[in-house]
Amino acid sequence: MVFMTRPMNETDNLDQIADWFDSIGTEWLLDYDSAPRRRENSREQLLNWMRGEDGLSCVLVAEGGEPAKVVGFAVCLLQTDPITNRKYGTINGIYVEPEQRGQGLGHTLKEAADEWCRQAGATYMRAYIGIGNTAMLRVCKLLGYEPWMVTWVRRFD
Ligand SMILES: CC(C)(COP(=O)(O)OP(=O)(O)OC[C@H]1O[C@@H](n2cnc3c(N)ncnc32)[C@H](O)[C@@H]1OP(=O)(O)O)[C@@H](O)C(=O)NCCC(=O)NCCS
Repeated sequence: MVFMTRPMNETDNLDQIADWFDSIGTEWLLDYDSAPRRRENSREQLLNWMRGEDGLSCVLVAEGGEPAKVVGFAVCLLQTDPITNRKYGTINGIYVEPEQRGQGLGHTLKEAADEWCRQAGATYMRAYIGIGNTAMLRVCKLLGYEPWMVTWVRRFD
């Protein structure tokens, strides 16, 4: 199947994308390092990022099939490092429907999302990936990312 990426718009299924967004990281984030997401908040956040009125965000969707169906998304954010003042990009959530995984869609979405950040003014990208998330680590490696810092955690409870 041929897929393309495009910016999300008001006609897309916001509830479905919010559900996908809320599911990301559940297997990778530590229980005490994340709060459960509330769909209402996620919907609002996604709408703000989609509208990108400050020019600092965009939501891309991956679409394919006949009739066309949205099967994944990525949230692109342009951020500024408070110390160096350099602009960099982050992807605050990327997701591909489980049935469509393993055919290059994650790679295509991530590449398109990085390109959005580059065109918005980012001089580099930062990615935060769970150490066990082999699929996302692979996607980033294929795009030229290199590990830079590792977060270690020690539990006291
Ligand atoms: C991460 C994710 C977006 C990847 O999407 P995808 O469409 O399956 O990725 P691709 O098909 O483009 O795969 C890219 C590479 O990763 C590899 N890969 C995919 N799934 C893999 C897995 N489970 N284990 C190991 N490698 C995997 C592919 O083989 C491919 O490498 P190759 O070209 O060398 O063969 C998808 O797994 C997902 O939505 N996961 C849940 C949400 C998530 O974890 N988001 C990232 C949070 S940081």
